[in-house]
Amino acid sequence: MIAGYMDKKPVIEITGLTKSFGSHQVLNGFNMKLYESETLVIMGKSGSGKSIMIKCLIGLETHDSGTITIMNKNLDKVNEDEMMDLRTEVGFLFQGSALYDSMTVRENLEFPLRRHTKKFGNIEDATSLVMEVLKSVGLEQAIDLMPEELSGGMKRRIALARTLILRPKIILYDEPTTGLDPITSKEIVLLMKSIQQEYKTSSIVITHDVDCARFIADRMILLVDGINYAEGTFSELFSSEDPKVKAFFKS
Ligand SMILES: Nc1ncnc2c1ncn2[C@@H]1O[C@H](COP(=O)(O)OP(=O)(O)O)[C@@H](O)[C@H]1O
Ligand SMILES: [Mg+2]
Repeated sequence: MIAGYMDKKPVIEITGLTKSFGSHQVLNGFNMKLYESETLVIMGKSGSGKSIMIKCLIGLETHDSGTITIMNKNLDKVNEDEMMDLRTEVGFLFQGSALYDSMTVRENLEFPLRRHTKKFGNIEDATSLVMEVLKSVGLEQAIDLMPEELSGGMKRRIALARTLILRPKIILYDEPTTGLDPITSKEIVLLMKSIQQEYKTSSIVITHDVDCARFIADRMILLVDGINYAEGTFSELFSSEDPKVKAFFKS
């Protein structure tokens, strides 16, 4: 246990999570706590179940057994209204950017506001909310562009702005730097860090980018064989003698 963590309370707690597809047991008793305002990096081989775990967290997949608690709400017990509230509290950055190609940047950013009018009322002031998040990602000038006019890195920034516009307390990033060149990846990682500081969010970052993990992780979990195989700071795991842990850091 890292000093200081005992006093913090988890915003997400996963206990004994299992998930299989047919005879393929993907998660086999996975445990995880995400503490307030920390950045937790999850690493694991391709196909180890990282995306499935995140999908269970946001209700895109159902788990077989185990408990998921988000901001003191047990996902198995929430009603539809509570689930809708959780959707605004937990932002999710998809693998890739998934912007709507036929909408301008402004329309892409307004879209989540329209779906969550309960939290944001009638969004007459949408433009100022849009401008505020565009400023946070450094792309105010892109407001009237179409996605096809954006570079890969800019798309990723707009996708992040779209997540931020709902003011989530938690942000889940699934492979945020995949498909980007090293310089653009570095920019995105720097941006994630500055967002964390500006908005005081708690984050889970799935990545196999070691540089990203080194830079951003307060704490890390390695997902191996369906469980939280190893946990610790980047340097603790980086210096581990365990062969399964070492395998992540070589190459
Ligand atoms: N809908 C599905 N049906 C069957 N198998 C699936 C499905 N979704 C994921 N899987 C399997 O679950 C495993 C974990 O997938 P995933 O969580 O996407 O891995 P990753 O760690 O690379 O994100 C993979 O072996 C994948 O083939
Ligand atoms: Mg994945």
